[in-house]
Amino acid sequence: MHSSGLARRVAVVSGAAHGIGAAIAEALVRDGAKVWVCDVLEEPLEETVRRCRDAGGDAGSVAVGRVVDVSRPDAVRALIAEITAQDGGTDILVHSAGGVLGQVAQPVEEVTEDDWRAIVAVNLEAAFLLVREVVPGMKARGWGRIVTISSGAGRSYSQTGIQAYASAKAGLIGFTRQIARELGQFGITANSVAPGFVLSNPSSQRQWEALGAAGQQAFFNALAIKRLGRPEEIAHAALFFASEEAGYVTGQTLSVDGGRWMLG
Ligand SMILES: NC(=O)c1ccc[n+]([C@@H]2O[C@H](COP(=O)([O-])OP(=O)(O)OC[C@H]3O[C@@H](n4cnc5c(N)ncnc54)[C@H](O)[C@@H]3O)[C@@H](O)[C@H]2O)c1
Repeated sequence: MHSSGLARRVAVVSGAAHGIGAAIAEALVRDGAKVWVCDVLEEPLEETVRRCRDAGGDAGSVAVGRVVDVSRPDAVRALIAEITAQDGGTDILVHSAGGVLGQVAQPVEEVTEDDWRAIVAVNLEAAFLLVREVVPGMKARGWGRIVTISSGAGRSYSQTGIQAYASAKAGLIGFTRQIARELGQFGITANSVAPGFVLSNPSSQRQWEALGAAGQQAFFNALAIKRLGRPEEIAHAALFFASEEAGYVTGQTLSVDGGRWMLG
């Protein structure tokens, strides 16, 4: 069944080629939004666009895909300018691009500047670049929803041991809270969803398998809800923050992690 809660809203979702970003894009389309999806990966992004088109019901709720590196200021500026030219502006920004970029844990004294900066660039700095471009239009219309996808790693520590990732996600939560404070007076909210471990793509599948039976059991022992999360479950939380109904909720981080955060 299609809802029309976000009818005529224009959304942009970064990092939408894979699980979580793709599920968020689909949820927004189902709710009636027009969704622009972007990623550095062209083919899986096209798959997301197809999925969204299959999911969308209303004429207005369609998806458009663009290959964009959201850590590049010029590319972000061009994307948001294109959306503004075609659709009048961006009402909803979901920054889901991120992850560990294929990196593995290393002792901190062996981490190179390039590895550190690459993770901070996409997980944290890109959020700033995107927000900077969408905010003028949101202010002009007096309505906006900014949703960042952080991580349990930003609230406690990275289970994969990647220092830059935990730091960037903690920074992303701080940035989200700070802009919430600044932008609330303009009708713009900013909130973060902090997922737990979700099998969202081949690399998270490999990470999960590498844990082995004992590691997987230890993982479940630390959860209140004894199973892994699904991308759609992260998308539900993002959709709430993007909704009209969440207009009095800002600066929050919601863990969707099966109760790991709660147990410490
Ligand atoms: N999967 C999990 O268990 C999990 C847990 C906590 C947080 N997260 C976060 O959720 C978000 C989505 O993660 P996911 O697991 O669905 O996929 P993912 O980890 O593969 O990354 C998300 C997407 O970002 C894209 N991306 C990377 N660099 C980019 C750039 N410079 N410009 C544009 N796109 C870029 C990737 O191509 C990918 O499609 C990420 O921010 C991730 O850190 C994931």
